[in-house]
Amino acid sequence: MTNNQAIGVLSAALKSADYPQSYLQELISHLALDYSTEPLSANQSSKLQYLLFLISQQTPIEYIVGKAMFFGRYFNVNRNVLIPRFDTEKMIEQALLHFDEIPNKGDVTVIDIGTGSGAIAITMALETTLYVTPIIAIDDSETAVATAEENAVFYGVKERIQFLKCSDFPKNGSIPIVPSSSHIVVLANPPYIQQKHFDVLPSSVKDYEPEHALLVQPLLLKNLLHYLDTLVSNQKSVSFFLEYNDTEGKMIQRFCTEYKDQNCISDLL
Ligand SMILES: C[S@@+](CC[C@H](N)C(=O)[O-])C[C@H]1O[C@@H](n2cnc3c(N)ncnc32)[C@H](O)[C@@H]1O
Repeated sequence: MTNNQAIGVLSAALKSADYPQSYLQELISHLALDYSTEPLSANQSSKLQYLLFLISQQTPIEYIVGKAMFFGRYFNVNRNVLIPRFDTEKMIEQALLHFDEIPNKGDVTVIDIGTGSGAIAITMALETTLYVTPIIAIDDSETAVATAEENAVFYGVKERIQFLKCSDFPKNGSIPIVPSSSHIVVLANPPYIQQKHFDVLPSSVKDYEPEHALLVQPLLLKNLLHYLDTLVSNQKSVSFFLEYNDTEGKMIQRFCTEYKDQNCISDLL
């Protein structure tokens, strides 16, 4: 088979698996192909067969090429981290619109809870370079934090982001995480899939992405809401952007509407 034919085969495989053609160039580089009539080397042929096998097994294309597009930038991903989703880009858009309206932008800290690949924290860092906004990125998975740090180095924002591997959020060790800035913008895309929905997820998700990044943890939402309460109790002005499921969305809505009445929130927390 020639290089040109191999590229045609890969393009067709992407199409039949419904993967974006934008990843074709990544696959071409991965196999060191060029647009020529040169025959493939033995090494290229076996790599091509392996790629086609992975695609036929519904392996997410992002894990095959080790990259995922988020907010117009590629992030390194691997099977220790969730593949960042388009829905989460919407959350960033909302947070940035809100950020524009904060009067004292020099006194803001952004916190990303459950950072995974670091896509949220790094995007926020890159989109707020003018104000050199400090960012805190938290995850309880050591391998996720390592991936996020790698991405932050790649984008030159490692110095702006404090990465915390903390298993006892909202504390880091025995210390509650309370930044010194007056305004805190919290973004979180925690695991929120309920078991009944997890069981019927497509194989490309449930067999490949980390279960720990997908399956809802009842305590985590309580901890998140507690955390917001802790920030407010520390005289912080808090903005909160959260991606969650519908069921718990109701609890969050109630938390927000009833927040002003301290008596009402005690049964929620
Ligand atoms: C849905 S993924 C989101 C990843 C990334 N923020 C994104 O949007 O692509 C949830 C992340 O939360 C982390 N996580 C799960 N439970 C946690 C906990 N109790 N404390 C801190 N992080 C947690 C997982 O390791 C995972 O990286």
